[in-house]
Amino acid sequence: MSEISKSSVVGAAPEGASDPQSAAQAVREMFTSIAPRYDLLNHLLSLNVDRVWWRRTSRTFRHILDHPGARVLDLCCGTGDMTFALRREAAQSAPQILGVDFSHAMLQRASGKSAAFADNGSVPVWIEADALNLPFPSGHFDLVTSAFGFRNLTNYDRGLREIVRLLRPGGECGILDFGEPKGALAALYRLYFKRVLPRVGTFVSGVRGPYAYLPASVERFPQPEEMLARMKSAGFSEATWTPYTFGIAGLYRGKK
Ligand SMILES: C[S@@+](CC[C@H](N)C(=O)[O-])C[C@H]1O[C@@H](n2cnc3c(N)ncnc32)[C@H](O)[C@@H]1O
Repeated sequence: MSEISKSSVVGAAPEGASDPQSAAQAVREMFTSIAPRYDLLNHLLSLNVDRVWWRRTSRTFRHILDHPGARVLDLCCGTGDMTFALRREAAQSAPQILGVDFSHAMLQRASGKSAAFADNGSVPVWIEADALNLPFPSGHFDLVTSAFGFRNLTNYDRGLREIVRLLRPGGECGILDFGEPKGALAALYRLYFKRVLPRVGTFVSGVRGPYAYLPASVERFPQPEEMLARMKSAGFSEATWTPYTFGIAGLYRGKK
């Protein structure tokens, strides 16, 4: 497994952004601009497979979610679908689940969808904050997740170190994100992801940019072997990757 040099910085870099600050601002503006159509496009462009991925990820962490005293953080929660999947998996045990995002418009959508959970008094709590600089004490959480959000951070190593900081010893992390499938499906999927998806996304959202950024950001994201090396360098004692749906997506698991 390759060693990561401490000076190498890798992170999201939307077109036109010249430094980490302007990149983060571009990412926030991008998600804010597509917030009204985000859920519709997610389900449409993934043919609803996104729901299966969120559920599968939350099931992986049932052993933590089963504990009523567990503290759970869903980073880059957007409109909350990963957070709600965790909430559903936890069922009666009602651990404390927080969803964090830095786009106010995305969080407003998440909050609007919370009503369905109000009956059993265990609605997730939504917090507007930057995943690279979180307002929580060290060692506070049993589980930190992020679905399709981590890839958008402007500094992956800093994001990983922040997750390690927040986890208690023995705590776990799950990063669900897109990958690039190999084999027979690869060429067909590339055609869809790079040609069809950006056009449909741009047409339905009415916003130019975000749906061209998506395939570019996946291409830029470290391959599993490199990502696992980065997780180990950041302080995870165990790190694994499980491909979902032929590697179109996959779950990184880390244990502190
Ligand atoms: C593709 S969406 C994923 C939303 C949700 N987790 C899902 O599975 O649908 C990515 C989210 O990450 C958020 N995000 C990106 N960088 C962030 C950062 N540095 N801090 C907090 N949120 C961030 C964006 O605002 C956006 O809502």
